[in-house]
Amino acid sequence: MLDPTTDSPFRGLGLLAIEGLTAAELTPVLDLADQYLERTRAGERKLTLLSGRTLVNLFFETSTRTRTSFELAGKRLGADVINMSVDASSVKKGETLIDTAATLNAMHLDVLVVRHPDSGAVRLLAAKVNCAVINGGDGSHEHPTQALLDAQTIRRRKGRIAGLTVVICGDILHSRVARSNIHLLNAMGARVRVVAPPTLLPPEVERLGVSVFHSMVAGLTDADIVMMLRLQTERMAGQFVPSVREYFHFFGLTADKLKVARPDALIMHPGPINRGVEIDSEVADDINRSVILDQVELGVAVRMACLDLLTRASGH
Ligand code: NCD
Repeated sequence: MLDPTTDSPFRGLGLLAIEGLTAAELTPVLDLADQYLERTRAGERKLTLLSGRTLVNLFFETSTRTRTSFELAGKRLGADVINMSVDASSVKKGETLIDTAATLNAMHLDVLVVRHPDSGAVRLLAAKVNCAVINGGDGSHEHPTQALLDAQTIRRRKGRIAGLTVVICGDILHSRVARSNIHLLNAMGARVRVVAPPTLLPPEVERLGVSVFHSMVAGLTDADIVMMLRLQTERMAGQFVPSVREYFHFFGLTADKLKVARPDALIMHPGPINRGVEIDSEVADDINRSVILDQVELGVAVRMACLDLLTRASGH
């Protein structure tokens, strides 16, 4: 159970969403992640903080970087890490989430990282298990550790988040990355814009605290940060864009479209990137402006910080 006397920024027994967290709660996570980053860079790749603890990555959806990142984070802190694959799991045999929770409880885990295609499924599972739970992405709802690693990338490169103009472009409708980032960036005092065709925006998206643009030139003008998103075709029922060619023409990030952004604007993408769809290779590979690989490096550090804080808070 959460000890209210600890200084953990996480409420309850897990990190399920960014929505509702404040800058005062988020900043210590980024500070701790900075410390883990320095230690990793200095060659400290095997700590003992979580030795004797068990971390399970339960992924009901495919993932390369998020699962690997949590696995590395757990191992660098000394935990035993187990990956439960979707195909081999009994979920395919019709087991309900509640049965899965009972099975996991019987295994005495300390931390469970869950990715699931349905929004809300991670919270449902978290209510039924006895360990700390981290949302590794649930449907188009939230992906909290992605937003934290994006924030840390921005903070390290720009020295601050407050006051920056951050532009999130692409498939906002289906993106849990966009939702978590909008909540976090607003909490930290950034100005957030979204750029997308009307078909790829959630209804009343302005209520999340963003300005809405349907043209890249208007949206990117004076941007400090340009965050590109993949078209989440696996979540699309039907046709949301006329064609990939047309989408790239209007919404793909190119050096030409970037001219209106600030000269020191940074380019971000959570990955996997689709070259020639939402981003041109020339921009994705621009070593002066693209921080896509920094995001991957910082992802491990942020997840180490989350695992540290959560196990401290829950006493697991
Ligand atoms: C994102 C995801 O899965 O939500 N990827 C990630 O976690 N790095 C974005 C995406 O799949 O496009």
